[in-house]
Amino acid sequence: MPPMTLTLETTAYTEDQLAHKDVPQIALAGRSNVGKSSLINTIAGRRRTLAKVSATPGKTRSINYYRVEPGGFFIVDLPGYGYAKCSKSERAKWAKLTQTYLTRTPELRGVAVLLDCRLEPQRIDIDLVDYCRSQKLPVLPVLTKADKCKQRDRARTRKAWSLLLGDAAPLFFSSFTGEGVDELWDAIREATAD
Ligand code: GTP
Ligand code: MG
Repeated sequence: MPPMTLTLETTAYTEDQLAHKDVPQIALAGRSNVGKSSLINTIAGRRRTLAKVSATPGKTRSINYYRVEPGGFFIVDLPGYGYAKCSKSERAKWAKLTQTYLTRTPELRGVAVLLDCRLEPQRIDIDLVDYCRSQKLPVLPVLTKADKCKQRDRARTRKAWSLLLGDAAPLFFSSFTGEGVDELWDAIREATAD
């Protein structure tokens, strides 16, 4: 496989800025601070940072479209949900923007749902998975920060999720060690292939 390159193409803050509806894409969704932007930087394999990473939740407040070459499809970083420390109206605005994106992008091929591998399944994550299913969007579960999840705990974590996800097997991923990068690319390429 040739190396894949990612470039930030468009940023949408409002519904009328949503773009590229006719180009295949995979969205990244997950609670604030779960590691979405770090994952973008890691799979881009570049030292220069593409997506802003922060220890403070709520960093990404827009929908960011990253063009992938070769292939010409998009990986789309969504604002994190479940971030308590922002105003209710701001949270409602992001939720609406995300929901509009998920329902009005005909070429959306699937949603990589990022889950912190150290946590038990949380209501808010389960709701997102259910929502994707109700929209007939394939879910690709990604367990992030796998460097913090000991091998002996993994079977339990996998099992907890498989009860909810059925046959969508979660993939362990770490931006710190690079674990799961190749598997994730394989899954993304498969989902976006014609
Ligand atoms: P929002 O934009 O706020 O929604 O957050 P995000 O999901 O984009 O998370 P981000 O990538 O900004 O990372 C949040 C924090 O988690 C940062 O302090 C990162 O350094 C840390 N982090 C990200 N990936 C990993 C990982 O693989 N392992 C560990 N241990 N920490 C990680
Ligand atoms: Mg982010």
